[in-house]
Amino acid sequence: MASRKLLLLPGDGIGPEAMAEVRKLIAAMNERLGAGFETEEGLVGGCAYDAHGQAISEEDMAKAMAADAVLFGAVGGPKWDAVPYEARPEAGLLRLRKDMELFANLRPAICYPALAQSSSLKPEVVEGLDILIIRELTGGVYFGEPKTITDLGNGQKRAIDTQVYDTFEIERIAGVAFELARTRRNKVCSMEKRNVMKSGVLWNEVVTATHKAKYPDVELSHMLADAGGMQLVRWPKQFDVIVTDNLFGDMLSDVAAMLTGSLGMLPSASLGAPDAKTGARKALYEPVHGSAPDIAGKGIANPIAMIASFAMCLRYSFGLVAEADRLEKAIAAVLDDGLRTRDILSDGMTEVGTGAMGDAIVEKF
Ligand code: NAI
Ligand code: MG
Repeated sequence: MASRKLLLLPGDGIGPEAMAEVRKLIAAMNERLGAGFETEEGLVGGCAYDAHGQAISEEDMAKAMAADAVLFGAVGGPKWDAVPYEARPEAGLLRLRKDMELFANLRPAICYPALAQSSSLKPEVVEGLDILIIRELTGGVYFGEPKTITDLGNGQKRAIDTQVYDTFEIERIAGVAFELARTRRNKVCSMEKRNVMKSGVLWNEVVTATHKAKYPDVELSHMLADAGGMQLVRWPKQFDVIVTDNLFGDMLSDVAAMLTGSLGMLPSASLGAPDAKTGARKALYEPVHGSAPDIAGKGIANPIAMIASFAMCLRYSFGLVAEADRLEKAIAAVLDDGLRTRDILSDGMTEVGTGAMGDAIVEKF
């Protein structure tokens, strides 16, 4: 049995509480299935800053680069609000994304049957929803230069952010979208704003060309990103895979997230390019939520987002598709049984804490 190397970066706030539940699953898989997971631990975010003045150390970066996959909890909190910009907790996550070249951020929006009633949309709009938003993660306006605030000297300042995309960046994210669509319902909708942005014009052009050259069997459509936002809340089931840039993807995936209930339910994966020799991708898996300082340390955080992120890890990093399916079914089964953490609690359901929710999922798995 080949060993499978995982780096665990629990981070701050509820990150460690959620990660504790994934550790239970890893142990169960090693024991019951001989899965051969080997784990290392590292610090990221505010806790790393407290330990050594950086949001992630070089040593932990090296561990991340050597791991088959990284599981990331959450970073940040009011304690670190005054930390210098370069060392702020988020810098650890941005460094990981950049150095591991995690250009493809996968954010599924799946509506668990037991939770359709608690969506902010009508149950019939979200029941059975299963869409995948793919956000470009290493380019665009979050990284483009110049990125400055200049004092104009007349009592005014000027802030500049720059959206930059090269052909290869659009080609590779489009490739991920088309390939994953083939494993699903074979539909991709690409979103940009070519009506007002040059990067949107190029995005549209390159996605269209990539489709024509390599993926003509996949159904492709284009939508302006603002219209896409409307369509996501009007009739989300029209979509299968949505592919879009870093900024629009950030917003649209948050919109899609809320279709399915709580932040505490939402996993994500960030993938790099396949290695030329082995085909293995660098990858980081994390819940969509942050460190939730308002509930940290109380044992009430919902661990499902973190556990579902681990399911994505099984699926995309280790090809353990049957196990990933089983883990997702275990989550659904526990919800069907009426177990709820406080963030998803409704009338007649049984409130459980973080640890009890994790235990119940491990037991069903
Ligand atoms: P947040 O996601 O931490 O919390 C938003 C609200 O959702 C809070 O009321 C929180 O209690 C609740 N919530 C989030 N996850 C939950 C879970 N698993 N179970 C139950 N309830 C949950 O976002 P917020 O409050 O905007 O940010 C808090 C801190 O987290 C900030 O320092 C922020 O910078 C950081 N953050 C970090 C992220 C990351 O590590 N990737 C992402 C987003 C925010
Ligand atoms: Mg966001």
